[in-house]
Amino acid sequence: MTFIVAIDGPAGAGKGTITKQVSEKLGFINIDTGAMYRCVTLEMLEKNIDFDDNENIEKLLGEIKIDLKKKNGKDLFFLNGRDVTTEIRTKKINENVSQVSHIPIIRQNMSGLQRKMAIGKEVIMEGRDIGTNVFPDADVKIYLDATPEERANRRYKQNKEAGIESNYDEILENIKFRDYNDKTSKVAPLKMADDAIYLDSTNLNIDEVVEKVVSIIKDRLDRK
Ligand code: DC
Repeated sequence: MTFIVAIDGPAGAGKGTITKQVSEKLGFINIDTGAMYRCVTLEMLEKNIDFDDNENIEKLLGEIKIDLKKKNGKDLFFLNGRDVTTEIRTKKINENVSQVSHIPIIRQNMSGLQRKMAIGKEVIMEGRDIGTNVFPDADVKIYLDATPEERANRRYKQNKEAGIESNYDEILENIKFRDYNDKTSKVAPLKMADDAIYLDSTNLNIDEVVEKVVSIIKDRLDRK
């Protein structure tokens, strides 16, 4: 049986954490589509391919191999056989991934790959356009949101816990800037699907959000 749960929403809404925990509770496969764009970005930077060099981008997409493997409960990403799980989270990738994810042939290719990865499986997939573009017929669609202030607050706390010094106002500015770019983008703008369930996590903790998502999925599974 194929059963697809799409979790979309803005940066910093907690999609990664929630998706991981829900997938563990329900035994679903968790696919982090942002990480896939990060892998392509790493390959583009390593091969020195310009973002408007469609010919070489197409060649790269024809050759690239992205694999997702689970080891000791951790999701590992492999790019052409090499473990790049840590590398795709570096500053250099953070600074370039948004631009790469807006290149139309890359989006087309990644969407196709995401559809293939889900065939015959129970999958929870997080991203920006899963319910609107990749799986318009997903069994469950959730748009996970939180106010920019709360998302900045969470990021600030995460940094503090990780020993990274940061400035709340700067983080907030950055989040607002990313929201604006994501929502007004010409290619796959961030938008809630008409039939998605809107879930505002501003005043909820992680366990409460996980519980709500699990209950929505179970309800839908019962009716399938
Ligand atoms: O969720 P993340 O920060 O790992 O996402 C990395 C980038 O990829 C971010 O700029 C948004 C983009 N993205 C996208 O355009 N579509 C998706 N389905 C997932 C991520």
